[in-house]
Amino acid sequence: MTALVGQDFLTLADISPEDLQGLLTLAAQLKSGAVQADCSRKVLGLLFRKASTRTRVSFSVAMVQLGGQVLDLQVNLIQVSRGEPICDTARVLSGYLDALAIRTYDQSELEEFAQYADIPIINALTDQSHPCQILADLLTVQECLGQLAGTTLAYLGDGNNMAHSLMLGCALAGVNIRVATPADYAPDVTVVKQAQALAGDRCQIQVTTDPKAAVAGANILYTDVWASMGQEDFAESRIPIFQPYQVNSDLLALAEKEAIVLHCLPAHRGEEITEAVIEGPQSQVWQQAENRMHAQKALLASLLGGVTAGVK
Ligand code: CP
Ligand code: NVA
Repeated sequence: MTALVGQDFLTLADISPEDLQGLLTLAAQLKSGAVQADCSRKVLGLLFRKASTRTRVSFSVAMVQLGGQVLDLQVNLIQVSRGEPICDTARVLSGYLDALAIRTYDQSELEEFAQYADIPIINALTDQSHPCQILADLLTVQECLGQLAGTTLAYLGDGNNMAHSLMLGCALAGVNIRVATPADYAPDVTVVKQAQALAGDRCQIQVTTDPKAAVAGANILYTDVWASMGQEDFAESRIPIFQPYQVNSDLLALAEKEAIVLHCLPAHRGEEITEAVIEGPQSQVWQQAENRMHAQKALLASLLGGVTAGVK
């Protein structure tokens, strides 16, 4: 796991299948207490331009449990809100912090931070991707199904940041993925091709407009909001367009009998998922949310060089 020390984590395309497996193994070991990691005297900055419950709190608690500290750089209180350039802010923050997790709109802002900072920059969600979420999702699949390679995940809804990062994560992990979206809401073709190239012969990356075909025999059903942060004005008009993609009991019945249901949260009950499904026996969303913390602990320990000896 020394391969990740000092690296940025901007997209899952930045890491290898072996790196991903290493992170998931370390996350499971940290969760069970089989290994300890130490990030004492390290400080993680959080720079969030969008709301967050899980990402903000799980990163904060993970860092504290690793012996380090967290500084919440509230955007409206720092000079970026008054136009200080990213290239200046990134270099200045590099002199104080050991890592910086950023939640913002454009992936290009994250890339600019990474270009000018010489500390690890972590993607805590952009409009294009959400790689930290996928670490927790794959850890949850591994725990619930006992394997990743060869399983099939059906993603239903918007071809958004979640769809993009899931495709890349599944490609690395050998999980077949079928992304079903309305025709005008398909994922970015560039990311689809990138995921297919990453997957090679390991697994299949498919995109469709047919929710039933996507779900047929799947082991994992995954959904996300129909209007992401920043798209609230379109939420109402999207409801009828996305209705056939709702994860409800009828759709779930088409999946494999023991299929699990995942959602990155926050969820809009009655829209992308029904109350019966999210609160039902196949839902693993609370375990999935808890795993954000375990997965990010592994990520922080790996980027900051806090993994103790003896861990592969
Ligand atoms: N899933 C997720 O990233 O949740 P938050 O927006 O609450 O961080
Ligand atoms: N697609 C959602 C994910 C939230 C975790 C959004 O960007 O708002």
